[in-house]
Amino acid sequence: MSDLLEFAVDLAFEAGRIQKDRYRERHSIFHKGEINIVTDVDLACQERLMALIARRFPGDRIISEEKENALEGGGNRWIIDPIDGTTNYAHGYPFFCVSVAYEVAGSVVCGVVYNPVFDELFFAEAGKGSYLNGRRLEVSSTAALKQSLLVTGFPYDVATSSMNNIDHFVSFLHEAQAVRRDGSAALNLSYVAAGRFEGFWELKLSPWDTAAGVLILAEAGGVVTDFAGRPFSIYRGQIVASNGRVHEAMLRVLKEGRKGARP
Ligand code: IPD
Ligand code: CA
Ligand code: CA
Repeated sequence: MSDLLEFAVDLAFEAGRIQKDRYRERHSIFHKGEINIVTDVDLACQERLMALIARRFPGDRIISEEKENALEGGGNRWIIDPIDGTTNYAHGYPFFCVSVAYEVAGSVVCGVVYNPVFDELFFAEAGKGSYLNGRRLEVSSTAALKQSLLVTGFPYDVATSSMNNIDHFVSFLHEAQAVRRDGSAALNLSYVAAGRFEGFWELKLSPWDTAAGVLILAEAGGVVTDFAGRPFSIYRGQIVASNGRVHEAMLRVLKEGRKGARP
């Protein structure tokens, strides 16, 4: 493990410790939108990680969900989601994580996703494979959509936007074995890497949701594109991520809807 990855893991453990320690507390909830919330623990995790990074790498920039961010520009930077799955966290539903990634000249070179409740640490470095608690990860070998467990999520403007993913959700309910929606994109990507899900899709995501998870999945042999099959960018929000074997079938459903139905 490189020094950089070791430090990223330390950051993830530190945020995970804060999340777990304060999990059963009553949280202060702030509204960024009608259903888009942030808790005092998101802010505490962010503050702590930013302080640790500033101490160790004072020249590095940081993108983190709960602060003002300028996404353009290059340089070495950290991309952090202090809690991915905040709605779950606020409700005491134990499916959330911290996501930490490091970007060099536009490429994510290191990614860590940690769920402190299950004590599951997913991590990867570019070109070196991905791991769950030290065990090498590989995507599932399932090739048929009808035998695939898929997962997705919905944007916070689900009630007001027509691009809200409900159409695709219905299509995949017909085409896949089953579909889950469990509230953490970073864990969803890590679970595809671990072979627990065959595929994941979503739209309107932010770089902190996907930066670490996409590297973890790619290093486990997965495929990640946009809905049209073009290369994925963490700055473009639309994602189809799979074990590779069901990727074309997922793209077809996203394009054409379920068999025999008009999109
Ligand atoms: C959210 C989660 C969720 C996804 C949302 C994200 P947050 O992140 O990843 O699974 O469906 O689109 O915004 O707000 O919990 O950090
Ligand atoms: Ca998130
Ligand atoms: Ca978050």
